[in-house]
Amino acid sequence: MKRDSFGSRFGALVALAGSAVGLGNLWRFPYLVGENGGAAFIIVYILLSFLICLPIFISEFVVGRRSQRNAYSSFRDLSGGTWWKYVGVMTIIVPLIVTSYYSVIGGWSVQYLLKSLTFSFTIGETQSQMSSMFSEYVSSPWLPLIGHTIFLGISVLVVGAGIKGGIEKFSKIMMPLLFVIVLGIAIYSMLLPGASEGLDYLFKPDFSKLTAKSCAAALGQAFFSLSIGFGTIMTYASYVDKKENILFQSTATAVSDLAFALIAGMAIMPAVFAFGLDPQSGPGLVFETLPFVFSQMPAGGAVAILFFLALLVAAITSSISMVEVGVAYLVEEKGLSRFWACLIVFCLCWSAGTLCSLSFGPLSDLKIFDMTIFDFLDYTSSNVLMTLGSLLTVLFVGWRLKKTDIYDEFTNGGSLRLNVRIFGVLWFLIRYIAPVAVLMIFIFGIIG
Ligand code: PFF
Repeated sequence: MKRDSFGSRFGALVALAGSAVGLGNLWRFPYLVGENGGAAFIIVYILLSFLICLPIFISEFVVGRRSQRNAYSSFRDLSGGTWWKYVGVMTIIVPLIVTSYYSVIGGWSVQYLLKSLTFSFTIGETQSQMSSMFSEYVSSPWLPLIGHTIFLGISVLVVGAGIKGGIEKFSKIMMPLLFVIVLGIAIYSMLLPGASEGLDYLFKPDFSKLTAKSCAAALGQAFFSLSIGFGTIMTYASYVDKKENILFQSTATAVSDLAFALIAGMAIMPAVFAFGLDPQSGPGLVFETLPFVFSQMPAGGAVAILFFLALLVAAITSSISMVEVGVAYLVEEKGLSRFWACLIVFCLCWSAGTLCSLSFGPLSDLKIFDMTIFDFLDYTSSNVLMTLGSLLTVLFVGWRLKKTDIYDEFTNGGSLRLNVRIFGVLWFLIRYIAPVAVLMIFIFGIIG
């Protein structure tokens, strides 16, 4: 049977950008920028994204498109069946773990979208009331599980509909919508009185805040944001046509991801500062601070609906890319139909996600290395496994595969002039610079 694939250049691009643009852009990037020196941090982030992460992204792309197989088979087949296949196993397992807890947060967005549709944030509660509403909600046993089930269910249904008919179609509609919504909120938010303080927080360069630790944070964020080290880019790349230009697709994804993160920052921070609030990172920013902001601003009810819709869409387009990794493996390696593969991935991620969700409430006392189940899975996958996955992928491409094969894949058999010209630089970055840099953040991430 012919393997499914993306039907167009734009389709492949929005799917890749959909994987990259997610919760990482909306709730972590704006805060990290403000905390670590504004424009100074952005400059470092851009340099690291393009010098270190883009070569790794391209490495994953090359492997996936060369083999035209799922991530596990790519490692196994291209390495001639050696121990590298175990790295392939890892690239299948990690996205399953990340999907499990990502879906819990996705579920919160479902719930908050429903809350905003019933105008729950317009009744002028205080910020501490908003915070306790959030903590009551996440620690209750049932409600978050409903959100988690709906979120994961939608993701698996999209993947179940196939590459062209599911993932591509969904991304083609949702990504432009997402862009328009976030841009609209950014414009609105920058027009609020007192918004300029938020822009200062984001963009005013303060080089004294740039430390080795903040550089490590920038690199870690760029990894997560570009979805590298998880087998997702590899899997999506395996559905990209051989005629497409890998350099163009990869660079366009990285640029969109960056643009999105910046626009998200401009949507969130000016509004937070306009109401005299302190920005927080992660769930606190999105589910405690922003609902309060929405309850105060003119037309806040409508902005809340749009914001939580955007958050949900961004999270789903990322989670489908992770679900596809496991589904592709089960279909191609285990010979299952797409239906059964989706069902198995759903059951695995639902069960693990349920434990994560309960770890905010009934299971909050269950600790692994002093962390709740949610924190443990988040920490090990984002700080350890993702970095390890990226390091091994870049070593695989730079030191195990043949340079001529990489050249051939990257330049479409020598036919793309610009790619031919820059191949030398790319090869150097892949072979020497990226592994050393990744190793450095790996060590920094572990010793904290
Ligand atoms: N890039 C996504 C974000 O910024 O939220 C997260 C993500 C998606 C990570 C897919 C890894 C992945 F495979």
